[in-house]
Amino acid sequence: MKIIIVDNYLGVGAKGAEIVAGEINKNKKLVLGLATGETMIPFYRSLIKMAKSKKINIKGIKTFNLDEYAGFGKDNKDSYYHFMDKNFFSKVGIPAENVNFLNGKNKNLNLECKNYEKMIKKFGGIDLQVLGIGRDGHIGFNEPGSKFNSKTRMVLLSKLTRKDNSRFFGHKLERVPKKSLTMGISTIMSARKILLLASGANKAEIIHRALHGEVNAKVPASFLQRHKNVIVILDKDAGSELD
Ligand code: F6R
Repeated sequence: MKIIIVDNYLGVGAKGAEIVAGEINKNKKLVLGLATGETMIPFYRSLIKMAKSKKINIKGIKTFNLDEYAGFGKDNKDSYYHFMDKNFFSKVGIPAENVNFLNGKNKNLNLECKNYEKMIKKFGGIDLQVLGIGRDGHIGFNEPGSKFNSKTRMVLLSKLTRKDNSRFFGHKLERVPKKSLTMGISTIMSARKILLLASGANKAEIIHRALHGEVNAKVPASFLQRHKNVIVILDKDAGSELD
């Protein structure tokens, strides 16, 4: 694992975007796995700036987002699709047919998950997967207990994740969905390259456990230690418990 420490929250996004831009410039048809959440906002802002100043051409890339709340579709203002559209897709004019998203509203969610795996395969697999990390060690929504061989599926969100994400739901815990669809650990591990971004002192402990602790399902992000091409970008606070 290559670990890069930058000064602050904005720097994490800027450095992440620089690495992704480099990959897009090497491969105009890059298959890019994306994440949502607060960590990602400066990352998308930096990518938008680069697209607007023509430092990168995003039109040919394909995207696959990691997760979506069960029961939520594109029209739901709290959906992850809506987050992505507001913070990235609509700002860079990426063609709709190049955007792949789990539909939490599908009546058959098992089939939705199976088809997502098929689509990823059809496009030749994910070249670069961008990840954030939850305070319980989740990546995507692979909560503690997720198996190494897990694929895209429906999962129950942990209490901590629902509490943390209630900030996106007006701090009303009862509004946070209990279930989500997520790419699995094995889906993520099949990506050719992985970029993990984290910032803030509240991520320091889990970053230490994920990067230097035992590899097991108690901390799903620890499985990344088994991947041969991972770059981790942290701000000083998130990296403060690393030796
Ligand atoms: C969301 C996702 C999650 C987040 C994680 C951190 O698509 O993949 O794993 O990356 O919950 O979220 P923030 O950045 O809000 O702390």
